[in-house]
Amino acid sequence: MISKNIESDTDCFYLTQKLSLFLKNYSIPIGVGDAAHLIVNELATNIIKYGISGRITVYLKNTHKRSYIEIRSVDRGPGIEDIGSAIKEHYSSSNTLGLGLSSIKRLSDELDVENMDPNGLLIKSKLYF
Ligand SMILES: Nc1ncnc2c1ncn2[C@@H]1O[C@H](COP(=O)(O)OP(=O)(O)OP(=O)(O)O)[C@@H](O)[C@H]1O
Ligand SMILES: [Mg+2]
Repeated sequence: MISKNIESDTDCFYLTQKLSLFLKNYSIPIGVGDAAHLIVNELATNIIKYGISGRITVYLKNTHKRSYIEIRSVDRGPGIEDIGSAIKEHYSSSNTLGLGLSSIKRLSDELDVENMDPNGLLIKSKLYF
């Protein structure tokens, strides 16, 4: 498991380095590792842009049949009012491309996005291999 607080681009950079080592140590297939990097990067940039600060944690887990990577992002921002729309391509509240969440959705085998009480956003993405 690796975990990192995210507040700045520097944190994002260190998390990327930790992730590379983690993927290498556990011999995670390259395609899964690439997807994990993209997802972590989009989650981290969203925390910096919208989430005030947060934490990203990456686990390696097993079911009785398969292994998977679970990526969790939690932050203490305002959450998302309309999660369904925000996941669609080209939805952005800040006039950028709005491709982050839709890419995460496309790359993930399972995706869960929920607002937390009293605030903050929780995202769980699973990648099976
Ligand atoms: N952690 C978050 N907290 C609050 N709102 C969020 C969070 N992540 C995403 N959002 C909302 O969902 C929208 C879509 O996110 P997405 O990552 O797809 O696009 P973006 O960050 O605006 O642009 P891009 O990622 O392409 O640079 C954001 O514009 C923002 O309104
Ligand atoms: Mg984004």
